[in-house]
Amino acid sequence: MTTIGIIGAGEVGSQLARAAVRHGYDVVIANSRGPETLTRLVDELGPRARAATAADAAAAGDFVVVAVPLRLVNDMPSEQLAGKVVLDTNNYMPWRDGRYAVVDSGEKTEHELRQEQLPTSKVAKAFSHIQAPRLFLSASPPGTPGRHALSVSSDHPDAVALVTRLYDELGFDTVDNSPLSESWRSGPGQPAWNAHAHQTRDQLAANLAAARRRVVR
Ligand SMILES: NC(=O)c1ccc[n+]([C@@H]2O[C@H](COP(=O)([O-])OP(=O)(O)OC[C@H]3O[C@@H](n4cnc5c(N)ncnc54)[C@H](OP(=O)(O)O)[C@@H]3O)[C@@H](O)[C@H]2O)c1
Repeated sequence: MTTIGIIGAGEVGSQLARAAVRHGYDVVIANSRGPETLTRLVDELGPRARAATAADAAAAGDFVVVAVPLRLVNDMPSEQLAGKVVLDTNNYMPWRDGRYAVVDSGEKTEHELRQEQLPTSKVAKAFSHIQAPRLFLSASPPGTPGRHALSVSSDHPDAVALVTRLYDELGFDTVDNSPLSESWRSGPGQPAWNAHAHQTRDQLAANLAAARRRVVR
């Protein structure tokens, strides 16, 4: 039995929890306000799910989803995430997060920053360019013509392999857009992002190739 730790119980974290439970995973989910605020969600998710603190969700997960905006001061439980694959759904939204100069300058991607914050984890950018409700609406079985595809970026091949398997189970094809330094290609405003409603593997690969980096000075 595989347990997924999920840190962040908002739109993405809760929807990923629903998808994971439906596919037979156990889920331990956390938000910032404490497990007692997640009663309604875990009741809905059923016996495969429980609420916990972020540190406990990280410790419980065979791998962990971080569905939380990146902060420049690390607010994730690094110790409990050590050695684990960490799926980072984050998108850099300056209107929400403030401006990160090192990202704006093109020196680093936000996912490289997450990897720096979690140096002993294996960070993979995943589930970042699909709207949360589409985790169900756009899913289809392997081999379906025109199957929707999602990208993954990581500096760790085993993390890419894990995400590829998970995407396939949950209903999606994969395009590997590694390493993390290339993850800007699927970021907000890029063609792969704009086509989030539907793109096949070939279309996603073309959209990633067509991305143009925006540098803000
Ligand atoms: N919404 C989408 O469709 C979508 C799709 C793809 C990617 N994304 C990206 O994925 C990330 C999450 O998006 P979202 O829409 O799910 O956000 P959201 O609805 O605002 O939820 C964020 C969640 O993170 C939790 N959180 C924040 N800081 C935390 C901390 N230090 N420890 C534990 N939990 C913490 C919040 O808990 P509290 O509520 O208790 O504070 C909340 O449950 C964002 O970067 C977003 O850009 C979003």
